[in-house]
Amino acid sequence: MPVPLFDTRTPLQPFWHELTAKAVEVLDAGSYILGPEVEAFEREFAAYLEVGHAIGVANGTDALTIALRALGVGPGDEVVVPSFTFYASAEAIPPTGARPVFCDVDPETACVTAETVRAALTPRTKAVIVVDLFGNVAPIEEIAALGIPVVEDAAQAAGARGPGGRRAGTLGAVGTFSFFPSKNLGAFGDGGAVVTDDAEIAERVRMLRFHGSRDKVSFELVGYNSRLDELQAALLRVALPHLDAWAHGRRAAAALYEAEGLGEHVGLPVTVEGAEPAWHLYVIRDQRADELAAALKAAGIGQKAYYRVPTHRQPAMAQWAPGTELPATEELARTHLAIPMSPVLSEAQAAEVVAAVRGAK
Ligand SMILES: Cc1ncc(COP(=O)(O)O)c(C=O)c1O
Repeated sequence: MPVPLFDTRTPLQPFWHELTAKAVEVLDAGSYILGPEVEAFEREFAAYLEVGHAIGVANGTDALTIALRALGVGPGDEVVVPSFTFYASAEAIPPTGARPVFCDVDPETACVTAETVRAALTPRTKAVIVVDLFGNVAPIEEIAALGIPVVEDAAQAAGARGPGGRRAGTLGAVGTFSFFPSKNLGAFGDGGAVVTDDAEIAERVRMLRFHGSRDKVSFELVGYNSRLDELQAALLRVALPHLDAWAHGRRAAAALYEAEGLGEHVGLPVTVEGAEPAWHLYVIRDQRADELAAALKAAGIGQKAYYRVPTHRQPAMAQWAPGTELPATEELARTHLAIPMSPVLSEAQAAEVVAAVRGAK
């Protein structure tokens, strides 16, 4: 039985009629940019997160750039960011005029720690981008205690919780989300959000996403055209009430892998202390990850090495990483492998995946 890496369609099946009806409603309403659906989604997403403000933007990459700009990051500044993440976490920095400074991660959780961030700080550090990688939740309180504003890149962690039950995305000064279709809360195209408790930051984010203007008459900042579409917002409103159940399904899928004995064969994902993850990707570690990937592929099991070349060694980033040495990042880049994960992964599918892993050993 083949098992796909993702299953974005099955979880939506029970709501398909609601989604298509909503899409028609928006088309009929004729308001497509920053209308009532975006406003309602922003209100509902903020309420879900228990945060003061949520602002819809065009995607998770813009969300990061705009969050940094709203914090006052600009030319001459440095922003610390992990290298072991999706490229966009770092790519969002240079458009502000600041330079990325790459830090290492914990070799087990794959998230940054206060120690790895501290090692990258300089007097020019203006912000830290902390990534809740794979749906884990990084130890943000400890990192925030270093005294530098934290931008929490929660693109992969919608539905997760940090210590004290606080929602992923609300643990730093500003949080950012991506609603890319395969994400935990996926749209039907691109989308993103910036969230914060700080009213002034929220106001700057609102201006920045709209050409630096409050009223389309006076333009106070050089901003962006980066808005969440009305149609995407409307569809996200249908999905949002199900996010917690899906996150639960992702944790249940992880528990199935454990119960099937996957940990006897490969390194399992390690939860950051105090976190309740919402596994966006289920990423195992193995010294011969490429061989394992080939065997799984032959057995019809979805698998992918997402970050074999870590961000600081990508051609466009090399200029900001001369002599950068990140041993845990290099080790994880070599050994990680994502295997199937979805909110609806069945016991039979988990057993099939674990049998294929066992057979490859
Ligand atoms: C950790 C991380 N940050 C940022 C992004 C960028 O989001 P988007 O693709 O919506 O621009 C993504 C996903 O694509 C991501 O996984």
